[in-house]
Amino acid sequence: MQRVLDYLRANEPRFLRELIAHASFPSVSAQPQKHRRDTLACADWLLKHSRALGLDARLVKTPGNPVLVAHTPRAKNSRKPRFLIYGHYDVQPPEPFELWKTKPFTPTLRGRSLFGRGTSDNKGQHFAHLKAVEAYLKTGTELPCDLTFVIEGEEEVGSEHLANFLKANRHELACDAVVISDTGIPDLKHPALTYSLRGIAALEIKLHGPARDLHSGIFGGSVDNPAMALAQLLAKMRDAKGRVTIPGFYDDVKPLSKLERAQAKKFPLNSEAYRKFLGVPQLFGERGFPPQEQRTARPTFEINGLTSGYQGAGSKTIVPSWASAKITMRLVPNQRPEKILRAAIAHLKTLCPPTVRLEVEAGHVGAPYFLAPEGRHVRAALRALKGAFGCEPILMREGGSIPIVNDFKRILGADTLLLGLALPDDNAHSPNEKFSLDCFTRGMQMSARLWPELAKA
Ligand code: BES
Ligand code: ZN
Repeated sequence: MQRVLDYLRANEPRFLRELIAHASFPSVSAQPQKHRRDTLACADWLLKHSRALGLDARLVKTPGNPVLVAHTPRAKNSRKPRFLIYGHYDVQPPEPFELWKTKPFTPTLRGRSLFGRGTSDNKGQHFAHLKAVEAYLKTGTELPCDLTFVIEGEEEVGSEHLANFLKANRHELACDAVVISDTGIPDLKHPALTYSLRGIAALEIKLHGPARDLHSGIFGGSVDNPAMALAQLLAKMRDAKGRVTIPGFYDDVKPLSKLERAQAKKFPLNSEAYRKFLGVPQLFGERGFPPQEQRTARPTFEINGLTSGYQGAGSKTIVPSWASAKITMRLVPNQRPEKILRAAIAHLKTLCPPTVRLEVEAGHVGAPYFLAPEGRHVRAALRALKGAFGCEPILMREGGSIPIVNDFKRILGADTLLLGLALPDDNAHSPNEKFSLDCFTRGMQMSARLWPELAKA
């Protein structure tokens, strides 16, 4: 083990250069027209890199972006335990460009942070695991388990083709557990194992009013305004106490257990500092719950985008012909996305006034995730975290979603250990995304320590 850790330390400057190369590819899965080639080039770079480390790697085609599958060299009848490391090489769109201090795909070091789209979500995080495994292979240190990397290119657009890929390759991918670093920790003094993620249900609604934009002076007042109708409709979806009004919305919500409440108290969140960090005049959330619970253990109804009428320079006096909204609901254990989606659509239909026509399009769904935070694998992971970060790890719920973790359970029968390396100020999905080099080095150490811990667990 010492040789592995020494190798990691000695080669850090090179690892950073390689991570910069990885994060230079604009692998934006949401913009295939613009970035399909870049995304494929990124996959190709990963393939070559994995092979150079000594992994048995290939790219598996899907109807979308290819999946990298890379195995550590293994004996024919190996009886070692097997673990699968999942990550994604696709990234969120970088827009708005003008808010970036340095170009999103020219990764730039400032202080102890590497700035660039995808550095934290998720290139830096899966790269830490790749480098830890490199350290074993290049120092000739025997790995106590067989490892398989699965790094996909469509996570940020809903992992549409990954379930079929898992089904088609289920024997090759069979494993004792899955390890993912694609979540966060509150700070370097609180490394964490995440045992729950929120799920998601997406929909788009459009209210159709007059057959065309109308002169608001000539016709306004005698015809409903779809933008106003939409604002009123959406406003009814949440009450003043921050509760979603969809009938039955909270029926299946699993409340925090005593143990979880005790753990949640260890999460360092100061409301005033949190308010300042978010830049809001006052925090808002479902009444009766602290912010940490609101953002991880309570479901929400969020407007992600709102469009109607004239958005150009100056003024244009119209009654717009239509208004639309992109919506996602974050769901918690044990809510079922399809059921919630049906209830939401029914509620919208009930509330919609007869003066406009409602069009609803259901979008992607992903179930919430929950793993009882106990058992040998969890304990092993906690030991690895403690060894790498030098302090006691916490157990936490996260508010984001990684829908594929449920497919790992359903298709491969494997639980997922979520060992995130992102910090709250990493600006994931925002301008000026960055990854902390301290998280990178601790992440590599954590990964190096994890395999012996899991193997003996
Ligand atoms: N890395 C995130 C997920 C995440 C972030 C989990 C922080 C927990 C804490 C991932 O890349 C992501 O953004 N997922 C999407 C999924 C969606 C597109 C289905 C999300 O949560 O919005
Ligand atoms: Zn993301």
